[in-house]
Formats: sequence, C-alpha cells, structure tokens
Amino acid sequence: MSSTAGLVIPCKAAVAWEAGKPLVMEQVEVAPPQAMEVRIKVKYTSLCHTDVYFWECKGQTPLFPRIFGHEAAGIVESIGEGVTDLKPGDHVLPIFTGECKECRHCKSEESNMCDLLRINTDRGVMLNDGKSRFSIKGKPINHFLGTSTFSEYTVIHVGCLAKINPAAPLDKVCVVSCGISTGLGATLNVAKPKKGSIVAVFGLGAVGLAACEGARIAGASRIIGVDLNPNRFEAAKKFGVTDFVNPKDHQKPVQEVIAEMTDGGVDRAVECTGNINAMISAFECVHDGWGVAVLVGVPHQDAIFMSKPINFLNERTLKGTFFGNYKPRTDIPNVVEMYMKKELELEKFLTHRVKFSEINKAFDLMLKGEGLRCIITMED
Ligand SMILES: NC(=O)c1ccc[n+]([C@@H]2O[C@H](COP(=O)([O-])OP(=O)(O)OC[C@H]3O[C@@H](n4cnc5c(N)ncnc54)[C@H](O)[C@@H]3O)[C@@H](O)[C@H]2O)c1
Ligand SMILES: [Zn+2]
Ligand SMILES: [Zn+2]
Repeated sequence: MSSTAGLVIPCKAAVAWEAGKPLVMEQVEVAPPQAMEVRIKVKYTSLCHTDVYFWECKGQTPLFPRIFGHEAAGIVESIGEGVTDLKPGDHVLPIFTGECKECRHCKSEESNMCDLLRINTDRGVMLNDGKSRFSIKGKPINHFLGTSTFSEYTVIHVGCLAKINPAAPLDKVCVVSCGISTGLGATLNVAKPKKGSIVAVFGLGAVGLAACEGARIAGASRIIGVDLNPNRFEAAKKFGVTDFVNPKDHQKPVQEVIAEMTDGGVDRAVECTGNINAMISAFECVHDGWGVAVLVGVPHQDAIFMSKPINFLNERTLKGTFFGNYKPRTDIPNVVEMYMKKELELEKFLTHRVKFSEINKAFDLMLKGEGLRCIITMED
C-alpha cells in the first residue's frame, strides 16, 4: 500500500479553463479511486490531435474547465474496491476507449467497441458516481476521455488501463497508448497486407506513418505515401515510404495516378486524413479482384461517402476501424512487446520533448504542424 492510498492527493495539473486558451498550471486535488477505478502517477504524456480538437472546441460540446490528455504512461498509486487485475507499482498505459471484458463486444473476437467503456467525448465525469475526481478549492474540474493525463495524478477506470512490461521505457511507449496503435493496427489487424504487397497510405501524420510502419513490418514491397503537404515527405522516408504522391501535382484524380503507377491499383490502402475526398480516393485506388481499403480518419459529421457500386462489385472491399481494432487490455501489452523485441520502431515518432510546465509549447508545435509526437515529462 502506498502512503497516499485513500487520501486526497494535491498535485499539479494543466487546466483548460476556456476553449483555445493556453492551459494554466494549477494545484488540483485528486480524490481516491472508487469501485473499479485506479489512481495512477502519470510519468510521461504526449499530445495527440484529439486533445487539440477538443481544446479548440470548434463544433464539439464545450466542457470546461477540463483536464485534457489521453496518450500517456504511468504507475499505479492505489486501487479502488473490486480491482483485481492491477496493484500499486504496476506500469500502465491509459487508453481512451476501454475493455470491460464482459459485454458482447468484449466477448467477441472481432470487436473492440466495448459497450460500457467505448470512447465518450462528451462525458466529463467518472461512471461510478457521475462525479469528477478532480477539484480546485472544492470546484469540480471535468475529465477528458476518462484519462485526463495532463495531471501528475489521475483516476481511471480499470478497464481503460493496459498493464505493460515494467522493463519498457515509459518515455517511449507512452505513444502506443493512442495514435501509433491506431495506425499500426489499421494496417496489421484490418488491411492485413501480405508480404510483398503494395500499400498506399493517405495522410502522413503520426497515424498515417504508424500505418506505414505496419506496412513495413508486414513486408510490403512498396509503400506509396499520399499527402497534400510536401513537408511530410522527408520525414516519411524514415518510415519506409518508397513513393510519394501529392494530389496537388496532378490534373487527374489521385486514384488514377496511383492505378497507373501500380498496373491497376494497390493491394491495400489505409486512409488517415479525415478528408472525405481522400477516403473515396483510397477506396478507388485499390486493385479490383482483391484490393482492400481501410478508413481511419474521422470525417466531418455531414460528409457522405460516394462511389459507384460497380467499384464494389468488381471485388474491392471497404472497411473502417477504431483504435486499429486493438482491444486495450488484451492486445496493447503485446504492442509494447513488439517494441521491446525491436520489431516496432517508436523512436522515429518522438520528435520533441518538453517539461510539464512548458506544455503549451507542445500545443504550439502541433498547431504549426511541426514534428510528430512531443513527449511531456511530468517531473520537472
Ligand atoms: N479511427 C480511429 O480510431 C482514430 C484514432 C485516432 C485518430 N484518428 C484520425 O486519424 C486522422 C489522422 O490523424 P493524425 O493525428 O495523423 O492527423 P494529422 O493532421 O497529423 O495528419 C493528417 C495528414 O493528412 C493530410 N491530408 C489532409 N487532407 C488530405 C487529402 N485530401 N489528401 C491527402 N492528404 C491529406 C494532411 O496534410 C496531414 O499531413 C485524423 O482524422 C484523426 O482524427 C482516428
Ligand atoms: Zn489520441
Ligand atoms: Zn466491454
């Protein structure tokens, strides 16, 4: 038992008081974990686009003040009633979507969309009592995605924590907790390219480059990177991307350009942009007879996917995935093991590092589109 178990912990947290305004370092009080909850000491966190989207809050439900952060790694400080899978000292990755292990989805081999703990961006409280575990002078502060890792301590449902190998370096594997697993799993678990396949990846941000990493691991013979931003191409070379296509450089639709480059189309395409036109191109650039396209990007809520039915009849398949089809507790420890065995390379995703007190710099970098992942160290 830790000396703080059962007590309120005062600690530092970066609080978003208003949409789009810099986070403010505050002293917050973190209540002890309740039934099926775990309190963790966050060691490292990184910034993902989803944090920035909800912080900017253009169109989403405003829920402020709020503690953002969902890509992180930490150590269990104390556990609530009913928690049997974790104990103080365990190394964990918080995951924004959970695995209760009991619902129909968790029991299905095919799904990772848990009924109880599926991502909920509009909830700012814990499930157990509908209240927050964070407060400042008695005023509650909203949670984000059930993780809120921009705090030295946070309380998380046990179903949203993956227990990982204690030998894994937390300052590197923290990025496995969201973006990297999403792209990697989209390729390895859903697109499933065979060795020697040609794979096209649309969007070369961190998620798309993780999809490229999956293609490299699967033994793809060519990886075609598609992006509107030419600055993305240099970094993508480190990820095994062999060909680059900028749709802006061509008069004809990019799917036609890719079909010409590949004698009829690619074997697999993975879309990681969120742009509806890129989604349609990704589907239409796969080879007839066997091609599979996988959608990962989150489109505008009113976007409509349009393609002629003949494209399906000609034996092309379109799929979508959420968190790379990984089950958080069952599968994510194995993704960490892939890194430990040097099959998965994480270092090339880690482009910047800042202290927790400088967390707003990580936001600036992401807003400027610089780098891939910025690691935020909690201990100043
Ligand atoms: N399905 C899931 O579980 C899941 C999880 C995490 C993120 N996502 C989504 O994945 C997407 C990618 O995330 P990211 O963090 O890598 O984003 P990012 O903004 O870093 O990268 C997206 C890239 O796509 C490029 N792009 C945009 N429109 C394009 C077009 N029409 N054609 C070609 N390239 C285009 C951009 O220039 C950019 O380089 C986002 O939509 C994000 O919301 C989905
Ligand atoms: Zn994320
Ligand atoms: Zn479940």
